[in-house]
Amino acid sequence: MHMHPKYDVHVFVCLNEREDGRKSCGETHGLALVQAMKTALKERQVPHTVRINKAGCLDACAYGPAMVIYPEGVWYGGVQQEDLPEIIESHLINRQPVERLRIDFRQPARKWLKAVEQQRPAS
Ligand code: FES
Repeated sequence: MHMHPKYDVHVFVCLNEREDGRKSCGETHGLALVQAMKTALKERQVPHTVRINKAGCLDACAYGPAMVIYPEGVWYGGVQQEDLPEIIESHLINRQPVERLRIDFRQPARKWLKAVEQQRPAS
């Protein structure tokens, strides 16, 4: 018998707050992203097969605010609220990853994040 999974896409959003002062994605920022994403998905009437999950540290702290989307295993960093419409439209609806936000773990985090900022389209 073929089993249909309950969800076919999971978005894990880091809510971790590190207490030793090192950079972390942040509970407030993560929660805001989760909320905004849920609202936007509803507005766009994205099928309920996409699940947004609050997550603990994803081990991409220096590149954060971070999220990872499965089944593709695509990692996004430096994510701001204004990036969400593009992530939803391009990735969750059209299944095209947003290349400008994909973490390149080969690059030093600070350098990579700076490039992300420079490439962010003016809203
Ligand atoms: S604190 Fe978000 S990935 Fe570690």
